[in-house]
Amino acid sequence: MVNKPRILVARAIFPGTIAQLEQHFEVEHNQADVIWPRTELLARLKDKAGAFTTGSERIDAQALAAAPGLKIVANMAVGYNNFDVPAMTAAGVVATNTPDVLTETTADFGFALLMATARRITESEHYLRAGQWTKWAYDMFSGADVHGSTLGILGMGRIGQGIARRGAHGFGMNVIYHNRSRLVPELEAACKARYVAKDELLRTADHLVLVLPYSKQSHHAIGAPELAQMKPTATLVNIARGGIVDDAALARALRDKVIAAAGIDVFEGEPRVHPDLLAVPNVVLTPHIASATVPTRKAMAKLAADNLVGFLVHGKPLTPLNPEVLKSA
Ligand code: GLV
Repeated sequence: MVNKPRILVARAIFPGTIAQLEQHFEVEHNQADVIWPRTELLARLKDKAGAFTTGSERIDAQALAAAPGLKIVANMAVGYNNFDVPAMTAAGVVATNTPDVLTETTADFGFALLMATARRITESEHYLRAGQWTKWAYDMFSGADVHGSTLGILGMGRIGQGIARRGAHGFGMNVIYHNRSRLVPELEAACKARYVAKDELLRTADHLVLVLPYSKQSHHAIGAPELAQMKPTATLVNIARGGIVDDAALARALRDKVIAAAGIDVFEGEPRVHPDLLAVPNVVLTPHIASATVPTRKAMAKLAADNLVGFLVHGKPLTPLNPEVLKSA
C-alpha cells in the first residue's frame, strides 16, 4: 500500500476537518492548541508534504529550508502576510488562502464595529455594568450618526465592496473609496461608490473603514499625519491587519480627540495590544474576530483542507496564490 502523504495542522481546528484530512493524509495535528515555539514548528514541518496554517505561522525562506519535502501550505485566512509568497514560489511550494467564503461575514463585522464605535455601545455598556447609570442626561453617550453620513473605505477588494454595499443600500451613506486601482464602472455603480484620492478620503470621511492587505507599502498607512487630516468627529475602523495603523499614534489621537473614536479588530504584534489603547475609553477593541461565525469558520477550514486534498491528491489546488508554481511543476 502506498503511504499517505504526511501533513501538519499547526493549530486546533474542527474535528470534522481533521477527519476529512485523515481520509487522505497521515495527519500530525495540534488539537491541544499549543503555541509551538518557532523551532518546534520548523522541526514538525521537516518531514511533511503539506501544512495547514492560520495567520499566526510564518512561512518564509527559513521555514522552507527546514522542510525540503514541503509542497503546499494552505492558510486558513484570506490574508497571507504570514507567507513570503516569492520565497514559496522560488522553492516550488504552492501557497493557498481562503478568499470569498468569508467576504459577507467579514463585511457584516466591519459594519457592526462601525456601528458600535459610532454609537459608543461598549463604552456605555461598561458604564452601565459599573453601576454608574443613575439618571437620564441629554448628552449621555451621544455619538455620531451612521445613516446619511460619508463612509470612506481604504482598500476596495471584495470585503470593501461588501461594506460599501451595506453602507450605500442599507444606511443611505455617501460612499467614497481609495484603492491601488479603480473599480470598473459596473462595480462602482453596484457599490454606489466614488473613487477619491487618499487625502480627500481622509479629509471627507465621517467613518473610515480599513480593508486593505498588509504589505511593506501599507505599513502605518494610517499614522499621526493621516489621523491629523481626519475630521475631529470621525471614527476609524480597522478590520484589515495590525501594522496598517500605527497603534501608538492612534492611542494618542484618541486621547487628544484628534478623531472621535475607533473600532479595532487587529493589532500590531497581536495578541499583544498596545497598553495605551487599553487606557483610552473611545475605542472598541475586539480580538481579531471579523470572520468568526460558525458557518464561515467551517467554510474557511473546509476550503483550506480542500486545497491540500486538491493539490496533494488531485494535482489542483482550488485557490492558489502562486499558480505559476503549478505551471513549472
Ligand atoms: C483574517 O484576518 C483573514 O485574513 O482571514
